Amino acid sequence: MLNLKNRDFIDLMSFTKEELEWLMDFAENIKSGKDKTRYLDEKNLGLLFSVASTRTRISFQVGARQMGGHAEFYNSSDLQLSNNESLIDTAKVMERYLDALIVRMYDMKQYGKGREAMNTLTEYANIPIINALDDKDHPCQVLGDILTMKEKFGEDYKKKKVVFTWGYAKRQKSLGVPHSLMSAGATLGMNIVFAYPKGFDLDEQYIEFARKTSQSTGARIEFCNDLMEASEGADIIYQKNWKGINMEDAQELRIREEVRHDWCVSMEHFKRANPGAVYMDCLPVIRGEGVTSEVIDGDCSIVYDEAENRLHIQKAIMAALL
Ligand code: CP
Repeated sequence: MLNLKNRDFIDLMSFTKEELEWLMDFAENIKSGKDKTRYLDEKNLGLLFSVASTRTRISFQVGARQMGGHAEFYNSSDLQLSNNESLIDTAKVMERYLDALIVRMYDMKQYGKGREAMNTLTEYANIPIINALDDKDHPCQVLGDILTMKEKFGEDYKKKKVVFTWGYAKRQKSLGVPHSLMSAGATLGMNIVFAYPKGFDLDEQYIEFARKTSQSTGARIEFCNDLMEASEGADIIYQKNWKGINMEDAQELRIREEVRHDWCVSMEHFKRANPGAVYMDCLPVIRGEGVTSEVIDGDCSIVYDEAENRLHIQKAIMAALL
C-alpha cells in the first residue's frame, strides 16, 4: 500500500505512475465492494466553492458520507470572504475545524488567479487540500476518466487512441481537464491527440512536462488543428471546451463563433473512428454545441459511467489523503 497521507491533490504532474495506478486500483476495490472500510469515520471535510457544480459537489458529499465521514458545502459568497476576509485567515481558521478541504475557486477572466488562491490555501491550511477544478487542473475528473477508459478497454487502454477535442460552447470553460489529462497521459504512457482550433493552444508548462515525461514512459502526446483528421482511427473521442489563453477576450469569443461548425462532434467523426469507439464528456454540455445529441445520447456514449466514476475515484483520493 502506498502512503499518500496528508498530501495535497492539486495537479497530476505531482504524482508518479505507481501512485496514479494505485489510486485507480483502490477505487476499483471500493467500487466493487471488495473494500468496504469506513476510511473517513469521525472525519469532517469542507467543500469551499465559488463556482457552480453538480457532479463534483454531490459525488464528494455522498462519497464522504458512504465512508463514514461528513462533508459540508460552503459557497464562498456566504462566508466572510465576501466581506473581504483574507484567504489566509480563512485557511488558518478552517484548518482548526476540518480534516480536509475540497476547493473550487477560480475566475475565467484571469488565467492563473485560481491556482494562486489554491496555493495560498495549501500554504496556510495544514490539512490536505483537494482541487475540485481550478483554472489549470481538474485532477479528480481526469483520474475518474482514465478509470472509465480502463474499465472499458482493460489494461489495453494505454494503447488506444484517445482524441481529446475542443468543442464549441458559448461559455468559456477552464483548461483543467486537458491539462490534467496531458499530465496523467504522459505519466501513464497513453496515446492522446489533442485537437483544437488554431489559437487555443494549451499552457506551455504542461506541454513541456508531457514532452519530457513521454521520453521515459513511451507516451504519445500529439496535437492537431483538424478534428476530422484527428478522428481517423480513434478509440475514444472526448469533447470539452476550454478558453484560449493566448488571445484577447473579445478576439477569443469572435473566433469561437467563427469555427463552431467544425468543432461539434457528430456521427461523421465516429464514421472515421475505429469500430467500438466511445464518446466521453465530463459534462455539463449543451446538446448541439460541442456534440450532437445523436452522439451523446447514442450507443457509443459512456458519459454517465464517466460521471459515476467521479464518486469512486474521489472516495479513493479522500481515503488515501486522510
Ligand atoms: N465535470 C464536472 O466537474 O462537473 P460539475 O461542474 O457539475 O461538478
